Amino acid sequence: MKHLLLTLCFVLSALLPAAADEGMWLPSLIAERIDDMRAKGFRLTAEDIYSINRASMKDAVVLFGGGCTGEIVSDRGLLLTNHHCGYDAIQRHSSVEHDYLTHGFWARSRSEELPNEGLNVRILVRMEEVTGRLAAGESAAAIIEAAEAEGTGYRASIEQMYYGDQRYLFVYEQFDDVRLVGAPPSSIGKFGGDTDNWIWPRHTGDFSVFRIYASPDNKPAAYSPENVPYRPKRHFAVSTKGVKEGDFTMIYGFPGNTQEYILSDAVRYVARRSDPTKIAIRDGRLAIIAEAQASDPALRICYAARHASIANAWKKWQGEVLGLERRRVCEEREAYEERFAARVQGDPRYGDLLPQLKAEYARILTPYFAREMLAETLFTLPARYSEAERAEPFFAKRAACERALFRHALKQYDRHCPDGYRLPAFLDGVAAAGSVEAYADRLFEATWSGSDTTQLTALRSDASRMLQHIAWMLGTTSLRNPSSKRLNELYAAYVRALREVDTERAFYPDANLTLRVAYGTVAGYEYADGEYHTPHTTIDGIIAKDNPAIYDYDIPQALRDLHARKDYGRWATSIDGRRTVPVCFLATNHTTGGNSGSPILNGRGELVGINFDRTWRSTMSDIRFDPTVCRNIAVDIRYVLLVIDRIGGAGWLLDEMTIR
Ligand code: ARG
Ligand code: ASP
Repeated sequence: MKHLLLTLCFVLSALLPAAADEGMWLPSLIAERIDDMRAKGFRLTAEDIYSINRASMKDAVVLFGGGCTGEIVSDRGLLLTNHHCGYDAIQRHSSVEHDYLTHGFWARSRSEELPNEGLNVRILVRMEEVTGRLAAGESAAAIIEAAEAEGTGYRASIEQMYYGDQRYLFVYEQFDDVRLVGAPPSSIGKFGGDTDNWIWPRHTGDFSVFRIYASPDNKPAAYSPENVPYRPKRHFAVSTKGVKEGDFTMIYGFPGNTQEYILSDAVRYVARRSDPTKIAIRDGRLAIIAEAQASDPALRICYAARHASIANAWKKWQGEVLGLERRRVCEEREAYEERFAARVQGDPRYGDLLPQLKAEYARILTPYFAREMLAETLFTLPARYSEAERAEPFFAKRAACERALFRHALKQYDRHCPDGYRLPAFLDGVAAAGSVEAYADRLFEATWSGSDTTQLTALRSDASRMLQHIAWMLGTTSLRNPSSKRLNELYAAYVRALREVDTERAFYPDANLTLRVAYGTVAGYEYADGEYHTPHTTIDGIIAKDNPAIYDYDIPQALRDLHARKDYGRWATSIDGRRTVPVCFLATNHTTGGNSGSPILNGRGELVGINFDRTWRSTMSDIRFDPTVCRNIAVDIRYVLLVIDRIGGAGWLLDEMTIR
């Protein structure tokens, strides 16, 4: 009776039910969610989403470039993804004469499509649980090898779900000939720049167009002029009907990394130690770089990509801290743990789990922090300046900025590196130079002149040794694996226990760059008391932000003209009696990094948008999905079509799409 009461008490007061719209579901198990999906407006079946017997939606979704998602939109392998996902490829084809980043690029025919060395896409052939086979003694390598032998260009891997409690085999077909077909100018594709990044309202046309090529018999092949457009098993039809608030949407893509089940200890570490320190360190770096950029147009360009990538995570972390604190997630998790502890008290399998997990955190958090601090400071310094950099006419102008970055990195390292983790070379260097600043100057001058890099090399090799040491302490060989081997084992048991006792909660494995389905609805949100943000923006909002004097808001003249003529053709829609074109929209789909470029689909499985971001307080959803504030941001497909058609003049691409 007491046991029963405790169970009820745990269930009824569960503080973390799989709230509406939370979850990144495994496609092969989507049948378990299909009733809920249909109740929310999905009109198709589980087999339409994932099937190994016939063509299904999964055949039209690709892992793009190993870190983004893309979707196939024609029977000739035409692919859509984000502008920021195609950015590298666009940049590599750009030169002063052909500046595709600035002016955009549009192939006039297939023969003008541009090959991209090193860029590949993967399409999932199938996924299957292999936990049992592995437990029965089959080797992972043998399973992978057999799967890869099944077809040309097949790549397989075994991925952990629930901290390794389950393991799944993923078999992909990898295509290595992926060509650039079109990209809008950055003033559309990156409209709003870092100012609007992670922000709503948003007006970014964050898309680019590629095409998959295959051998004449439709198999993956290295680049060759003989290759032909890939004939996919399935492509998405495009709907120009749009979606309105409350409508069902689903996202099919490759989310990279979430930690939904971590204990309060880890949430506290992220929200109160790691994120705030990293934000503060980056505040300084960004200020140094911004000052250099403001001083000289050549430096503005030279540091643009660096500034953008430092700022992206910096802004994300700030939103994450705000969201976690506002929702009181540390306290929420503590309460959850207390209930769990009461529920499993005396249980021989699970009774000791929490104290063991907490002890392991006590052991590893400081070395883990030391590793993060190294990555944010010493490892941000260049080992040398390349010949190409030295040859730049503005190289000399960079000196003040680079010196300041050296000083900043060393001072921050000195300030934040926990005792016991200081590098011997650092301590020696500071002692010899007399101060951290003087030591930083010595390192900088030697590196800058290129005459002597031995001091920095010594420091870096000490740093590498420290990383090895920390990895050894954590019991992991992967420096990227955020948790210790022991922690992983304990979490596997903990999540298994949760799945047994917290019967109210719907569990899904953390994101790990495997294919997932998220679903929800188009929705605005209350940004602040009395301030409701609607879920749609339009081209009129772009014109309102347009300002030739502000780099991030300076749009192409062609877009101004288009707006002046209201020349929207079939992409126009009427909002409150106003003729306009929708640009971006918000929905409650649970997404994370890697979901960029993901198709956002309506209830009939038609493409209505391309996912590219979240609002900044949503970024807490990597740890805790809060349905009241977490929103993903998509570019409306009608704006994409308008830009291809009227700005790019690439109507021939629309002809091969299935537009409804
Ligand atoms: N915040 C988005 C993501 O994490 C988009 C980043 C690219 N855009 C930018 N303005 N930096 O990747
Ligand atoms: N912008 C992210 C990406 O590039 C998506 C996100 O974090 O919501 O994948």
